[in-house]
Amino acid sequence: MKNRIDTRIQPSEITPREGYNRRHFIQLAAGVSLTGLLPKQLFAADALDATKASAYTLPDEKTPFKDVTHYNNFYEFSTSKEEPADLAHTLKTRPWTITVEGEVHHPKVFDIEDLLKLATMEERIYRLRCVEAWSMVIPWIGYPLSELIKQVEPTGNAKFVEFTALYDPLQMPGQRSSVLEWPYVEGLRIDEAMHPLTLLTFGLYGQVLPNQNGAPIRVVVPWKYGFKSPKSIVKIRFVEKQPVSAWMKAGPEEYGFYSNVNPAIDHTRWSQAKERRIGDFFKRATLPFNGYAEQVAQLYTGMDLKKNF
Ligand code: MTE
Repeated sequence: MKNRIDTRIQPSEITPREGYNRRHFIQLAAGVSLTGLLPKQLFAADALDATKASAYTLPDEKTPFKDVTHYNNFYEFSTSKEEPADLAHTLKTRPWTITVEGEVHHPKVFDIEDLLKLATMEERIYRLRCVEAWSMVIPWIGYPLSELIKQVEPTGNAKFVEFTALYDPLQMPGQRSSVLEWPYVEGLRIDEAMHPLTLLTFGLYGQVLPNQNGAPIRVVVPWKYGFKSPKSIVKIRFVEKQPVSAWMKAGPEEYGFYSNVNPAIDHTRWSQAKERRIGDFFKRATLPFNGYAEQVAQLYTGMDLKKNF
């Protein structure tokens, strides 16, 4: 997102959802002709079941699967948006554990298999608005991060939550470059982390997260710019002081801790007033809090969001 970012969308990036359709067809074929004969997993080993969360759907058209999975920001692999889809296969997503520690009564190392079973998986359609002024609409699968937080019981000193992604330059070749300080670190205030919209995310479009979207586990915070949604996390730490994120270190005047989507506050190098939905030709106005103001604006009552950008 630093100097290399190119906000132009190439026509070649706007492609049909053939990847999704192919998989869907295979699943359908399996369901129709082979039900009861062979386990479904043989045909769609990466399927992830979820109930549709009706309170969290949007009227917006979904961004095609192909774009969601082939236009990614994942600097651990590349600063190009096209390359993570090709490169992320080197990420090993099993075994995988998440260490939850710091200001909690019950610190614990969770195995990913246990986290998958911790709460009911929901499909929630969220807007993702990237700081570079493009956006997508993605059917994520996960459950509220608060479900995990409840398990470890934060102490009264826990004011913030810090997320740390995997550091392993052998699996993540982009970490050999110093474009960011590794590992990728992000943070939320505890009430933001506990907010029902904040999703601990394991999948999208009916399947487990493709590696390039942050497998096997990431966080999605829909009212903030996309970089506040850390991918491939291995540690969650509860702390008293506001964490310093990888982006704040890289450009403190460009990337604030809060980074709520705010059309009125420009990025130092471009306007945030509009966004281009991937697949659209025309830009549209960006909504305050990415359209989630009704749910989250009260978290910031009395705060100067120009100062706390
Ligand atoms: N998480 C990690 N670990 N590394 C990253 O480079 N990029 C962020 C965020 N999470 C990033 C990350 C940015 S800038 C965006 S816009 C979103 O992931 C993109 O998520 P997506 O590729 O699933 O759409």
